[in-house]
Amino acid sequence: MAKQIEQSTLGVRAGTARSQFNEHSEALYLTSSFVFENAAQAAERFTGGDGGNVYSRFTNPTVTMFQDRLAALEGAGACVATASGMSAILAAAMALLKAGDHVVCSNAVFGATVQLYVTILSRFGIETTFVSPTRIEDWQRALRPNTKLLFLETPSNPLGEISDIAALAAVAKQAAAVLVVDNALCTPALQRPLEFGADLVIHSATKYLDGQGRVLGGAVLGAKGPLMDGVFGFLRTAGPSLSPFNAWVALKGMETLELRMLAQSGRALDLARWLEGQPKVARVHYPGLASHPQHALAMRQQRAAGALVSFEVKGGKDTAWKVIDSTRLISITGNLGDVKTTITHPATTTHGRITPEARAAAGITDGLVRVAVGLEALSDLQADLERGLG
Ligand SMILES: Cc1ncc(COP(=O)(O)O)c(C=O)c1O
Repeated sequence: MAKQIEQSTLGVRAGTARSQFNEHSEALYLTSSFVFENAAQAAERFTGGDGGNVYSRFTNPTVTMFQDRLAALEGAGACVATASGMSAILAAAMALLKAGDHVVCSNAVFGATVQLYVTILSRFGIETTFVSPTRIEDWQRALRPNTKLLFLETPSNPLGEISDIAALAAVAKQAAAVLVVDNALCTPALQRPLEFGADLVIHSATKYLDGQGRVLGGAVLGAKGPLMDGVFGFLRTAGPSLSPFNAWVALKGMETLELRMLAQSGRALDLARWLEGQPKVARVHYPGLASHPQHALAMRQQRAAGALVSFEVKGGKDTAWKVIDSTRLISITGNLGDVKTTITHPATTTHGRITPEARAAAGITDGLVRVAVGLEALSDLQADLERGLG
């Protein structure tokens, strides 16, 4: 049997397509359209006949390299790149759903994902039920005859709750629904949801795929076939396409993906262990800690626990804001997935737009602080947080 190519090799090599100039580094094709040899070829291309490029809303060689590299890493047959993570989530929904359909969604997904289902898709007759990311029986109970899509994010942001992908894939299968997993926080370097039975994987390339906080991007991945054809059809018509420049940046980002994910996860684990010993910290949420309720599942499903650490401080919002405002090194920003460590107060930023009831249901307390750990030295991160925790 042929040896399977390793993730680290795929991250550096997969998808590369050289031009006639034989460049070593992948080329950036910054062009909106492509030229045809003659009218007959133009006609053929417009029918999709020979698979050649027509217009960068549909396909572009740099975007194709990004898609092929990510597909290789996720073990997917097809990948459609999108302008952002949110447009990837929208594209999957638009390809799968119609008026009268029902969605079951984890209540611990990114705030804008909740907004998409609750305030936008609801206007088109699509109803969503939110359930606990960890209680499988709640997903089962929420199913209806018209349930078409199950959506989750694991680990969740910011609490790092772990959903059992294989168990939820079985629930989806039994309901003849599609299981969509947002894998932005783990990336394929740490977790490959398709191997556990997920039908589609979502990425915000804005996060770890780029890895240096430069560009927005996203992707939907799955098996080759009608589902992914539907995603591409939506993209081609509606146009939330990935810019070739952003694709190029994220493509080069993927070359260091595995290294970064393992190093940042290691740093996060060390920081989480240290935070557990701080007197002003009431609780640390990190799936890599033995104290985490789904630690065993996380270690079965993931190669490492990821770079997101959240902790609850004693004293609620005032102490949480003090910790954040006392930092000098760590960046106060809502983004994550960067090699620069970031800190945020979820209750008033990333989750500020959802209702207090929904926030409480999702376990986002006023004392919660989220740190997305980068590549700075552990001792410097500790010193920066110690100032506010002192
Ligand atoms: C898990 C997750 N999914 C999706 C998104 C949305 O991605 P984007 O900002 O690229 O639209 C985010 C953004 O923070 C996220 O954290």
